[in-house]
Amino acid sequence: MTLSIIILAAGKGTRMKSETPKVMHKIAGREMLNLTIDAAKTLNPQEISIVISDEIQPFEAQIQKDHDNQKISFILQKERKGTAHAVSTAISNIKNLGEKVLVLYGDTPLLESETLRKMVEKLEDFSLCVLGFDDFAPNAYGRLVVDEEGNLERIVEFKDASITEKHITLCNSGVMAFDGKKIAQIMPRIKDNNAAKEFYLTDAISIARAMSLECSFIKTDISEVLGANSRSELAALEEIKQNKIRQKMMDDGVTLIDPNSVFFAFDTKISNDVIVHPHVVFGKKVAIETGVEIKSFSHIEGAKIAAGCVVGPFARLRPETILEENVKIGNFVEVKKSHLKNGAKVNHLSYIGDAEIGRESNIGAGTITCNYDGYTKSKTIIGDNVFIGSNSALVAPVEIHSGALVAAGSVITKNVAKDELAFARSKQNNLENGGKKFRDAKSKE
Ligand code: UD1
Ligand code: CA
Repeated sequence: MTLSIIILAAGKGTRMKSETPKVMHKIAGREMLNLTIDAAKTLNPQEISIVISDEIQPFEAQIQKDHDNQKISFILQKERKGTAHAVSTAISNIKNLGEKVLVLYGDTPLLESETLRKMVEKLEDFSLCVLGFDDFAPNAYGRLVVDEEGNLERIVEFKDASITEKHITLCNSGVMAFDGKKIAQIMPRIKDNNAAKEFYLTDAISIARAMSLECSFIKTDISEVLGANSRSELAALEEIKQNKIRQKMMDDGVTLIDPNSVFFAFDTKISNDVIVHPHVVFGKKVAIETGVEIKSFSHIEGAKIAAGCVVGPFARLRPETILEENVKIGNFVEVKKSHLKNGAKVNHLSYIGDAEIGRESNIGAGTITCNYDGYTKSKTIIGDNVFIGSNSALVAPVEIHSGALVAAGSVITKNVAKDELAFARSKQNNLENGGKKFRDAKSKE
């Protein structure tokens, strides 16, 4: 079976009040259009064609890069003349249209691949299948008109509907699947004789029926087909998506003490028996292995965390952080682009950037890797079983070899060899009775 997928994304999205095109706004850290492409890709289509307006053109390369193993064609719809016009424009640009054709919208990012699969399966018995949903609240969706036997007769747009039709609760999500041969015959017959003077894709159903073709529909929950036209709708989609991810995490054996206060990215990977405390935020590209505990108020992105680590509370892990097994990152510690080996500990108030820290090394409170001189970033390399005393500044590039000790309060600018003890602080002078003399002098003044 060959499948062509067409994603409609030429809408202007003015209600977002944004310089960024609507479909490029993000849910769980991923652009709505990319989430739609992610779902589409799971069906192994021969190509994905995205109908765009010129405002998407600057993003084409980035989108293709985000899906490097999927052929994506961007098709410019110069004039917005309706959903059928958009689909026809796409079809005229596809060299060999698939045996099946699936049409999606770029701004409904919560579609599940399972639902799309069911739509395509319906084409074994029908020429056309529509994804519908029940909505009992007032809305302006197109309505599915179904006959007594439950066959789909037509879709009527809300603007063109009669009073009785407006009371139908079965609505059109916009997702449609077509037999590839039939769609080519149906599309040229769609006219723009309606309230909006647009070419409606929804007219495909009555046309198909007139051609004696069988049409069907499946129903899904409204939460799966919601789109975002405004910032409030975007926030509503975010909430649904977060709840889905939270539920999946818990189903997979992750403890979320307060699920509603934990925010995930679309690609967060967490193994079972990980405990996530309240108020934790995950950015993109995080992978956590079993037995890890992430304590409250931590912000984690681009980090690989191996089994048995403890992170937080109040920790910040930034991209390219690798924590091997049983590493401890404590409160008010920031780690960036650093590799911490088994059992290393950075427990309090530190900045670790562009560093390598060996096994079982202990980095004292307040230690800072001075990795940046205003021009270049330099590396700090620390061996195994090193002890860095509190409040040390490690001025990179610098190497502190295994077994070495750095005295508290040191400013380390030279390498420290294996098992050495480095002091780099001014000497302390204690003046006998000096404190008393000082006080006496002050009280006389
Ligand atoms: C459409 C459906 C309606 C359905 C609703 C679900 C039609 C005629 N109506 O209505 O039955 O209930 O979606 O949300 O299909 N687009 C283009 N080019 C165009 C026109 C639209 O790419 O020329 C894209 C838009 O960017 C959008 C999608 O197609 O992603 C739907 O267009 P929109 O104008 O939002 O359709 P609705 O009027 O909401
Ligand atoms: Ca719409």
